[in-house]
Amino acid sequence: MLTDDAYELLRRLASPIVAVTSAHGGRSNGMILDSAIRASISPEHPRLSVYVHKWHLSHDLIGASGRFGAHLLHRGQFDLVHTLGFQSGREVGDKLAGIPHWIGALGVPMLQGCFAAFECRVLNTMDAGPSTLFLAEVVATHGGEEGELLTADYFRANLPEAWREEFLKNYRQAQDRISRLAEVRDVRPWGGPPTTT
Ligand SMILES: Cc1cc2nc3c(=O)[nH]c(=O)nc-3n(C[C@H](O)[C@H](O)[C@H](O)COP(=O)(O)O)c2cc1C
Repeated sequence: MLTDDAYELLRRLASPIVAVTSAHGGRSNGMILDSAIRASISPEHPRLSVYVHKWHLSHDLIGASGRFGAHLLHRGQFDLVHTLGFQSGREVGDKLAGIPHWIGALGVPMLQGCFAAFECRVLNTMDAGPSTLFLAEVVATHGGEEGELLTADYFRANLPEAWREEFLKNYRQAQDRISRLAEVRDVRPWGGPPTTT
């Protein structure tokens, strides 16, 4: 696995573990990410953004529908990280089949029993090379389940031995793909700060 100082320190910048759900054309899916950020502090315009790698099934479904569900998990939902985050829906079919969920107002499957669940509509995207940044507005919120938030640090510190090999294999594969796709193609040059006269 490729590591260096910047990499090690940037790992501390991870978001909590977030389960992202999506649906399009009769296909439903879920994935895990730790790259979500709050994108607004306005109660009138709640927004968040997520980085999703372009090769994921979720990327296709979110891109085609312009919608997704974002779920903060609690520690009791640890197993969801394996079910949704270790294998692609392209290979294993419907990952949500055994997971209790309902269909939200946007037509997206929403997971039950989460720390918080947000129904999101995409407002904008940015090409980030190997991933796309989806900026979304939160149109509905569900939550309040008791329990401690499942953070990326907690996940890494408690990664079960039985999952370690698969986790590292996936990680190396992702790093390899990211290296090959690192170039940002849709560059919108920033002209620098405006000059004041
Ligand atoms: C702890 C953890 C964090 C992850 N973070 C991200 C992330 O930030 N962005 C991303 O695109 N994939 C991330 N992944 C990988 C995807 O969840 C995983 O590859 C998933 O199987 C993709 O599913 P899909 O192809 O069915 O959409 C993460 C996985 C784990 C286990």
